[in-house]
Amino acid sequence: MEIAIIGVGYVGLAVGLIFGEMGHQITFYDCDKEKLKSLDQGIIPFFEPGMSALLKKMLALGRVKTAYDAKNAYRHKAMIAVCVGTPSTECGATNLQSYWSVIHEAAAFANQNFIMLIKSTVPIGTGDQTAVYLQEHAHVKAAVVNNPEFLSQGSALKDMRQADRIIIGTVDEQAAALMKDFYAPLAVPLLFTDCKGAELIKYGSNGFLAVKLSYINEIANLCMRYGTDINLVAEGIGMDHRIGHDYMKAGCGYGGSCLPKDTHSLISQASIKGYEMKSLMAADAVNEEQKFILLKQARSRLNGLSKKRIAVLGITFKVDTDDLRCSPALSNIEIMILEGAEVAVYDPRAAGKIKKIYPMIHVCASIEEALTAADVCFIFTEWESICQLKRKHFAHTMKQVLVYDERHCLNKHGFAFDELFTIG
Ligand SMILES: NC(=O)c1ccc[n+]([C@@H]2O[C@H](COP(=O)([O-])OP(=O)(O)OC[C@H]3O[C@@H](n4cnc5c(N)ncnc54)[C@H](O)[C@@H]3O)[C@@H](O)[C@H]2O)c1
Repeated sequence: MEIAIIGVGYVGLAVGLIFGEMGHQITFYDCDKEKLKSLDQGIIPFFEPGMSALLKKMLALGRVKTAYDAKNAYRHKAMIAVCVGTPSTECGATNLQSYWSVIHEAAAFANQNFIMLIKSTVPIGTGDQTAVYLQEHAHVKAAVVNNPEFLSQGSALKDMRQADRIIIGTVDEQAAALMKDFYAPLAVPLLFTDCKGAELIKYGSNGFLAVKLSYINEIANLCMRYGTDINLVAEGIGMDHRIGHDYMKAGCGYGGSCLPKDTHSLISQASIKGYEMKSLMAADAVNEEQKFILLKQARSRLNGLSKKRIAVLGITFKVDTDDLRCSPALSNIEIMILEGAEVAVYDPRAAGKIKKIYPMIHVCASIEEALTAADVCFIFTEWESICQLKRKHFAHTMKQVLVYDERHCLNKHGFAFDELFTIG
């Protein structure tokens, strides 16, 4: 099948490359032409494990190509997958500007009947509005299918190949049957619903994960007060099969491009219908406070952060990505800078990006360089090289051993009780 992938970010590339691997012919299109040039050279414009090798393989097989003008991207395609960003507005609603510009282009340029596959996360009702718009404005027949994406950055390709489920949201029976055959090679359970159902499954899933994380973080906050180990408590709770072990790791709260924006969006969508999503609002409030628990402790221990040298190890919102969107590390670094600290950052994947955001910080080429002469160290991402650190690595380089491990990634063995702190 000839497929256009519109928007080549984390989702667009994962979707396009996996569809290519399934044997389809993929045309990538993005309004950012630099990204297309990069793909033509076999280079993924961000870091995602396994993606570079798969791009090279698909290019060599002739399964993927790029289009530099919109008209060519949309013409002669049986499926057009919209994968553009749907960021938050200032009040937490969803900004659909990019999304609608794609729908308008599809209506203007598509020249054969096609499936409009919605992979972007869009508010409930968007698919139905899209169907009405395309029926009125497209020159050909379009069947709208909401097919939400559940991949996690850092394991995107694996998550797509071995998904827990694939949701097909459409009222078009022919399109539903076609999607069933389309996804058959992946042998993943399918659930068919309407567009609104699929849209709510996506927001409902991310909202649930946010609540789960904030809940275990609150249990961790209790562990700190009672003096017991959150890792064992979380393990014991998670052994109940109704609860499970995933998304049960306590720390400095969730970040990234999805959970914060999608929880805010669902709260906003509910309020339009006169309903208050109390559980999500609570999860969001817990998450905001969670980011700064250890920073507050350090500030008090050091009598303020002014003129202190702070080593920050790991800045991405999770491991195996270079994405800094809504990373708790950034919220903390901003306060450190505002309060007059000297910040030295090490991150194996995102150091270059942080320099553009905060030109005044020191970007270090090694962990050792970041730790040298530091008064305190914060760990925000559990990169393998950071997890392997022992007390001696801090003792050899820092003014004193004082480490705030926001991700529970260090082995506490060898550290004195007042040298290494975690949440819970
Ligand atoms: N990142 C994730 O882990 C993830 C997981 C599941 C779902 N999603 C959802 O998928 C969507 C995309 O997320 P992402 O993280 O890949 O976004 P991204 O910001 O990484 O990429 C979006 C891409 O769309 C391009 N774009 C914007 N407007 C365009 C237009 N009018 N025409 C062509 N290209 C355009 C941008 O240049 C960019 O390359 C969002 O709705 C997001 O909520 C993301």
